[in-house]
Amino acid sequence: MTQEVFNPTNIIVTGGCGFIGSNFVHYVVNNCPGVHVTVLDKLTYAGNPENIAGLPEDRVELVVGDICDAELLDRIVPGHDAIVHYAAESHNDNSIANPEPFLRTNVEGTYGLLEACRKYDVRYHHISTDEVYGDLALDDPARFTEETPYHPSSPYSSTKASSDLLVRAWHRTFGVRATISNCSNNYGPYQHIEKFIPRQITNILCGIRPKLYGDGKNVRDWIHTDDHSSAVWTILTKGIIGETYLIGADGERSNIDVLRAILERMGKPADDFDWVRDRPGHDRRYAIDSTKLRRHLGWEPAHTDFLEGLDQTIAWYRENEDWWRPTKEATEAKYAAQGQ
Ligand code: NAD
Ligand code: DAU
Repeated sequence: MTQEVFNPTNIIVTGGCGFIGSNFVHYVVNNCPGVHVTVLDKLTYAGNPENIAGLPEDRVELVVGDICDAELLDRIVPGHDAIVHYAAESHNDNSIANPEPFLRTNVEGTYGLLEACRKYDVRYHHISTDEVYGDLALDDPARFTEETPYHPSSPYSSTKASSDLLVRAWHRTFGVRATISNCSNNYGPYQHIEKFIPRQITNILCGIRPKLYGDGKNVRDWIHTDDHSSAVWTILTKGIIGETYLIGADGERSNIDVLRAILERMGKPADDFDWVRDRPGHDRRYAIDSTKLRRHLGWEPAHTDFLEGLDQTIAWYRENEDWWRPTKEATEAKYAAQGQ
């Protein structure tokens, strides 16, 4: 259990054309000189190569492909010193409508990557979620820690929990050099407009009333995606192999508070939204205690003012309509069919 600094020079980032993975690719290019990134991304509905456009070609290469493709992994993994695994089906509502792709990508895909890491002795960092721990009551003072038992609620979170358990088993049984991080809800630019915050911002920009599930009292623990990226780099380079680290920035807020903040900042009345059908099995509250990451590895979030981060995010969606507009109609049609 000695803590050694790991200095990777040639890493694979799966899902590097998605919201959080692409942020990490930018982070590495901007902060980690001499590190080359191979992005492996299938470019599903959630992947957009525009998210990493313009980065220097000698630092970033995009390989379009599926993490479930073992032959492809045999071709590209050798020669890399680490895989940082972001690729996933990531949206709870989609997992309720059709769980199958979640099992395939989140469980089988992780299995394939672990096998490749075992075969080629490549270090592995696994990106996971606080949702593996289930939910907390609104009046419970507790927060999730690395010791909280797994208790996932949705098809999405159960596949993420399954993939975490595979990582632990491949580390213990086969000695794969792995770390895991479980992060809370991310917000920021480039998030797919199916997700809560960008859905409401783009609804308002389109003249559609925002949609709030259930009673709106559900609490999420928001972290800016830049802070998630800096935490992952810290864990990859300084974390102890075999350990799990929780990532969070003390950002608990109820959904109705977040929505009211968006409405206010976009010049709309506080009640200018629709209450819609609740998500089945809707987790009540998530809350992260990130003491271990802060104390053991010295990480701290930089974006501690949520409203400032929200303003920056609103401005980004205002200024980048070309990025989200082509998918808006289909996204809302899918929600409308679900009564949401
Ligand atoms: P996203 O849906 O925006 O992006 C997922 C990316 O993975 C896309 O680029 C997609 O094309 C790619 N992908 C999907 N299936 C693939 C496959 N079979 N092979 C190769 N590429 C594939 O997701 P996100 O919100 O950026 O989340 C990234 C990771 O972070 C996920 O593992 C998610 O569970 C985790 N996470 C997300 C949050 C959050 O708030 N969004 C919080 C904690 C953890
Ligand atoms: O906690 C980490 C997780 O955060 C990640 O693992 C997931 O990949 C990520 O999608 C996110 O999951 P949530 O389900 O919490 O995020 P979502 O943006 O879908 O919803 C946030 C909250 O807002 C949730 O309580 C449901 C609610 N909601 C969502 C939408 C899309 C609404 O009230 N209205 C909406 O239109």
